[in-house]
Amino acid sequence: MSFTTLSASAEVGRNFAVLRTTLRTKTRFHRPAFFMLLALLPGLASSAHGPTLRQVAEQARILVGAAVRPPQLSETAYASTLAREFNMVEAEDAMKWWVLRPNATTYDFRQGDELVRFSQGHGMKVRGHCLVWGRNNPDWLAKGHFSPKQLSQLLHQHIRRVMKHYAGQVFAWDVVNEALDENGNVRDSLWYNKPGIGLSGQGTHYIEQVFRWAHNADPKALLFYNEAEGEGVNRKSDAIYAMVKDFRQRRVPIDGVGLQMHIPALDADASAIKANVARLAALGLQVHITELDVSVPVDSRGNASADDLARQAEVYRSIVHACLNSRGCTAIQTWGFTDKYSWIGSHSRGSRGQALPFDRTYEPKPAYRALFEEISAGRAAGD
Ligand code: XIL
Repeated sequence: MSFTTLSASAEVGRNFAVLRTTLRTKTRFHRPAFFMLLALLPGLASSAHGPTLRQVAEQARILVGAAVRPPQLSETAYASTLAREFNMVEAEDAMKWWVLRPNATTYDFRQGDELVRFSQGHGMKVRGHCLVWGRNNPDWLAKGHFSPKQLSQLLHQHIRRVMKHYAGQVFAWDVVNEALDENGNVRDSLWYNKPGIGLSGQGTHYIEQVFRWAHNADPKALLFYNEAEGEGVNRKSDAIYAMVKDFRQRRVPIDGVGLQMHIPALDADASAIKANVARLAALGLQVHITELDVSVPVDSRGNASADDLARQAEVYRSIVHACLNSRGCTAIQTWGFTDKYSWIGSHSRGSRGQALPFDRTYEPKPAYRALFEEISAGRAAGD
């Protein structure tokens, strides 16, 4: 076994204890049993000290992250798996408006701060998610009938306050999330045209505006545009590309594109992903895979077939491969890490699940092994 699991480490620890006791207490030991134990030793030792995903990622010079639910950090297996296997975290919900902003005048940073503290205790980087999105906003905001002028002020203040609060702690922000529709048009939203911040009908101008605000609020943070279903080459990813190319040419402060990668099919088109990552990187942008999960059909008890889990692993493998093939791709992050806590169940009303690299008891799945092997293989020479 080339990777360590919590239970495997506990098992190995127990075996070593037995071996120590055997060696210490028995002066006239049982020879065959002793040699059997010795023969087991190298295997045990490599399990006990075998590299983790985090370690191989550090060798491959790539960040490997997971979205986190801070209330779960008090669960030992959750916290120890996270700290052992990943070197980056992102708040799944804790830095969204609906958590940070209970009302128009209050900020509630408690969950976000808890995540930052955890990351600092374990030498992990923190991605921030997300400052501007048409969804996951509190009712007082979404249904507040604010004027464009008021919305513009609210948003500008929010960006300033939140980014300054986390300056030096959050190294990269998803500034704008999911602003385009599947045809590549700017999506109707609170911030764009319902009623918007005063730039309604002016295409990507409102996106540009918030990137400028974000840069002023924390000039050192990396600023990302994050999007769903624009991973391969399609109308949406063409529109993302056109927008960020325009931003780069006009020196709008943007550092990267986040490709979410919530994948519901077991046959991802890796070459299209590779081509998309490469064209974004060629603009001098970083690409982060931000929300990777590969969901499979599950039965009424939440179980998936072994076949599907094996195919799922190959999807994970091909995506890591596509990322590592381009120098511009600097982070791979999964949306959660254990099937115990994943948004897929409620999102698919229970029809899909098991989308992550660890199962519900924190045992690594074939998907983990694929991630591990592919990252261990490192970046292709010359890339
Ligand atoms: C999801 C969270 O996982 C859920 O807990 C929450 O109820 C809804 O949002 N794209 C995004 C993420 O950018 O913020 C979403 O997260 C999943 C889709």
